[in-house]
Amino acid sequence: PLVRTDELFKKAYGKYAIGAFNVNNMEILQGVIDAAKEERSPVILQISKGARNYAKLVYLMKLIEAATQDAPEVPIAVHLDHGDSFELCKEVIDAGFTSVMIDGSHLPFEENVALTKKVVEYAHSKNVVVEGELGKLQGIEEHVVSNEAVYTDPDKAVEFVERTGVDSLAIAIGTSHGAYKFKGEPKLDFERLQEIARKLPNFPLVLHGASSVLPQYVEKINKYGGNIGDAKGVPEDMLRKATTMGITKINIDTDLRLAMTATIREIFALHPEEFDPRKYLGPARDEIKNLVKHKMRDVLGSSNTI
Ligand code: G3H
Ligand code: 13P
Ligand code: NA
Ligand code: ZN
Repeated sequence: PLVRTDELFKKAYGKYAIGAFNVNNMEILQGVIDAAKEERSPVILQISKGARNYAKLVYLMKLIEAATQDAPEVPIAVHLDHGDSFELCKEVIDAGFTSVMIDGSHLPFEENVALTKKVVEYAHSKNVVVEGELGKLQGIEEHVVSNEAVYTDPDKAVEFVERTGVDSLAIAIGTSHGAYKFKGEPKLDFERLQEIARKLPNFPLVLHGASSVLPQYVEKINKYGGNIGDAKGVPEDMLRKATTMGITKINIDTDLRLAMTATIREIFALHPEEFDPRKYLGPARDEIKNLVKHKMRDVLGSSNTI
């Protein structure tokens, strides 16, 4: 059934994390749902503004409705990823999302508080929960370019949560979006995470930019004509550690993109005579399923919790 994320977070907090997977089309969504079914894991399907523009909201909502029928036993939350305005949040709440993110992380603190609070008031009146963000991730967020990461200040995080009434909070501790997360050794600020979690006990924290950029996909893409040389992600043992320290939602998009692209590139290279889309989108969907199963079982720890 469709559920809110707060129910999932309450059960998971401190023990495991719920994976939030970005979905843009039918094959990605089916791969993720098949994995959740086989792993008996709850799942968050998240839709960005870009996904909504690409696939159209009405198509995505019908696919999600189909998923609840195909996998009635799986708790599925439908979440807006990186909402950038009150209007967009309202639109998807009215369309049936169970959770929204309002990302005011690029705004001055007071403006972030005011915008987030406005979204919370509307969302809560419609029985929908809200993720806010405080601190800036490195690199390119959808609508903000920051050269220097601004990690989340623990005291400000407490003030932000109290004043806005958000249900979960995305924090910046060293991750970034995309396939190029670290120049040197991967490093996250676990002391900062610990301090934030100590000041916000039992409050679900969210890690964006949490793809691991698995080497087997990078190698396959480069081998079969791609060029993503220096790609580097968050090591999976760091993600496992974070799930024991208050990180309750882990956002994964890049890993799905890499799995899909690696699979399709290999088929195109090895079978140049093939032109039936099902012959490459089908295996790409299978690979997404395998990847998400691995995440649930070996990284998030959410398998067999339903
Ligand atoms: O954080 C961004 C997500 O990976 C979504 O990316 O805006 O290209 O859909 P997108
Ligand atoms: P990745 O780019 O690491 O997959 O992060 C995705 C994300 O944070 C979506 O909000
Ligand atoms: Na999000
Ligand atoms: Zn993100």
